[in-house]
Amino acid sequence: MRLVTLDEFIIEEQERYPNATGELSGLLRDIGLASKIVNRDLSRAGLVDSILGDAEKTNIQGEEVKKLDEFANSILIKCLQNSGECCGIASEEEDTFVAFDNRKNASYVVLFDPLDGSSNIDVIAPVGTIFSVFKRISKHGENCVLEDFLQKGDQQVAAGYVIYGSSTMLVYTTGNGVNGFTLEPSIGEFCLSHPSIQTPSNAKTYSVNQGNYNSFSEGTKQFIEYCQENTDKKAYSLRYIGSMVADIHRNLLKGGIFLYPATKDTPGGKLRLMYECNPMAFLQEQAGGKASDGTNRILEIKPTKLHERTTIYIGSKATVEKAESYLNK
Ligand code: AHG
Ligand code: MN
Ligand code: MN
Repeated sequence: MRLVTLDEFIIEEQERYPNATGELSGLLRDIGLASKIVNRDLSRAGLVDSILGDAEKTNIQGEEVKKLDEFANSILIKCLQNSGECCGIASEEEDTFVAFDNRKNASYVVLFDPLDGSSNIDVIAPVGTIFSVFKRISKHGENCVLEDFLQKGDQQVAAGYVIYGSSTMLVYTTGNGVNGFTLEPSIGEFCLSHPSIQTPSNAKTYSVNQGNYNSFSEGTKQFIEYCQENTDKKAYSLRYIGSMVADIHRNLLKGGIFLYPATKDTPGGKLRLMYECNPMAFLQEQAGGKASDGTNRILEIKPTKLHERTTIYIGSKATVEKAESYLNK
């Protein structure tokens, strides 16, 4: 099979749309570049902490060694600002959005979780980067504004994630299906490995922090019991890594449901709508899956603030609908 690199694929996709300007293609390429840099440094994380010195100290080039999520955040910001196609970003690691003064004519804003599941790094379990792209609604030539970011998820023009696991893989959509690219480390290129991903319509797996069980709603508890007893065949397997990217990636490929319901501590949900749930919902829907807050489609929630949280039930369509049927009894 001929090797198709991410950059080549992006250009081929762009050529299918005669009116495409290439701006979005450039942006996606730069996100790919940022994730290669993050990947390189993540693979040395254990060395930096335990062999090469303390993470709080100065590194060999005299630069301050930052926590990895701050590092990933600054790499993404640099690559996106350099890209020329992005007028501003919002990130889990930034209190408010950042407008790029030197990119007032760019058309897109990007929201991201630079490192998802970052507590997993200490134990060498998979982590990820999640991103969501909107076309700005404010005027070109001026700084982007909060409204450019606070758009409903169904307005996303692209979304994706990178999973840093036993391999590194970038999965993205521009609303025309979902494609996955595995990093071939010897040539430093993401290569198309999972074209046109479709998620199975029924789950084999459920993913939830079941330690919170006692504070779940009655409906969620009953759905979990359904997963455990599953009358049709056999009980679902419980798989929970505690890194949304890794849990959703597995379920996307194998079939499954991921849920982060309301708990006593997080009555409105824990996960963030704009840079965790929206991009994952866009991907899942594009792969034939479904994502809801228990009642409403995630992509139709009108956000009111950048770091808004929501409950989420996401994955195989029939299984998410099953969960909803228990929740809305
Ligand atoms: P982050 O590392 O970006 O803060 O995200 C962690 C999130 C998500 O990846 C994961 O699914 C969830 O937190 C796990 O939460 P619990 O430890 O409460 O289960
Ligand atoms: Mn996260
Ligand atoms: Mn994070």
